[in-house]
Amino acid sequence: MSYERIFQPLSFRTLTIKNRIVRSNVAGRFDNYDGTGAQARINWELKFARGGVGAILSSFVPVHPRGRILPNYATIVSDDRIPFWRELGRQVHAHDCKYILQLSHGGRQRDIPTIDYPKGLSSTSKSDPLHGFECEAMTLAEINETVHAFAEGARRAREAGLDGVELHGANGYLITQFLSSAINDRGDEYGGVLENRAKFVREIVQAIRARVGRDFHLQMKISATEYNDALLPQEPPGNTLADSIRVCQWLKEDGVDAIHVSSGSSFPHPKNPAGDLPIEELRKTYDSLISSGVLTLRNYLLFVGHLTGDLFRQRWETARGPKDQIEGLNLHDARAIKEAVDTIPVICTGGFQTAAIIDEAIARGDCDAVSIARPLIANNDLVHQFANGVGRPANPCTYCNKCLVNAPENPLGCYEQSRFPSFDAMVQEILSVYRPQTFQ
Ligand SMILES: Cc1cc2nc3c(=O)[nH]c(=O)nc-3n(C[C@H](O)[C@H](O)[C@H](O)COP(=O)(O)O)c2cc1C
Ligand code: SF4
Repeated sequence: MSYERIFQPLSFRTLTIKNRIVRSNVAGRFDNYDGTGAQARINWELKFARGGVGAILSSFVPVHPRGRILPNYATIVSDDRIPFWRELGRQVHAHDCKYILQLSHGGRQRDIPTIDYPKGLSSTSKSDPLHGFECEAMTLAEINETVHAFAEGARRAREAGLDGVELHGANGYLITQFLSSAINDRGDEYGGVLENRAKFVREIVQAIRARVGRDFHLQMKISATEYNDALLPQEPPGNTLADSIRVCQWLKEDGVDAIHVSSGSSFPHPKNPAGDLPIEELRKTYDSLISSGVLTLRNYLLFVGHLTGDLFRQRWETARGPKDQIEGLNLHDARAIKEAVDTIPVICTGGFQTAAIIDEAIARGDCDAVSIARPLIANNDLVHQFANGVGRPANPCTYCNKCLVNAPENPLGCYEQSRFPSFDAMVQEILSVYRPQTFQ
């Protein structure tokens, strides 16, 4: 079986990629505490470049020290970070793979704050309802400084020879905190009606265009539907698909070249990454977050209690929806956005690992490309498998989300032991990211 649509090149306004599968953003603690990059990140990215994806979307890359969400994530906060990204891009390009850097700021959503700043900056002073991560509402001067930091991040990515940038406007991070009707409670021109809530991200896009010009690829990842009440029904639902369609149309006018469709007003969220809540694994790793939020100790005790932990897991999985509908769960939203933005490509994330489902989604016009995270962590060579006519990997990702709950504490990798011949084999694969240890 050949899946010809998957292997057609995709042209954005200023960038062409060789096929329709991009590695979605996956953050892991591979770098140095101070946010300088490390060889392990290059090794990690090369696994996917060798595996045949058309482009790699980087992990969460903070544009400002106050935007950091965990230690050991490579940042792009200053010019001395450029040589690392240049080297990473050079090695990825050697595999005919493009590299798009995700410009990010965590706002109030910070899993383990670094030592630099006690509180996050946000659109609001309300802490988040699940973990109680505390924050302060940004002043106008802080908003301007942050807009400038995004533009400088884009300029640095360009100077590093990377192929474009993506705004992390999804999943509850700072840009979502401004866009969201459920989170943004400002009384000034950055809060209230949708047009005001979109002012922050539109200023970022305009500042990037003013700084790097029109001939550098710029895309936006957005939570098309926020489902903010999925877990906590007393919370407001947040932005609807109709709200996000309007935002995407404005962003297109402002010079965005593609939209990357996700969902959920927080990260993680039952719908993203959609899968199981591995409560046993969570009991082992959530302790590293206890000092980060005012509700984290409560949550930890909830998770370690067998009855309460199990109830929470059930609630999470009910909010997720049926397990057999994980693959392509954002396609409906992607299609609606694609119809509305018309001339710019739409990338859809969420559960993809079956070639026919991807091929048909592109054929129907639901999206132009898909982004894949966990199924590529499980099978780095998934694209080569599709090219060889394998429609679905023999040893697929189970959507167990053990990679996710290990990420704050342990190296990123596949932690589903049933996929490996032994525990040792799993650990060896996870630790392979540390070989080689030095720049080549
Ligand atoms: C461990 C892990 C880390 C992630 N880190 C990021 C990130 O840094 N930025 C981002 O936009 N999404 C991040 N995501 C979300 C993925 O990019 C992707 O959109 C989501 O997992 C759904 O795709 P999948 O079903 O192919 O995994 C992460 C997901 C996982 C599992
Ligand atoms: S741990 Fe492995 S199998 Fe489980 S969701 Fe992550 S990549 Fe998939």
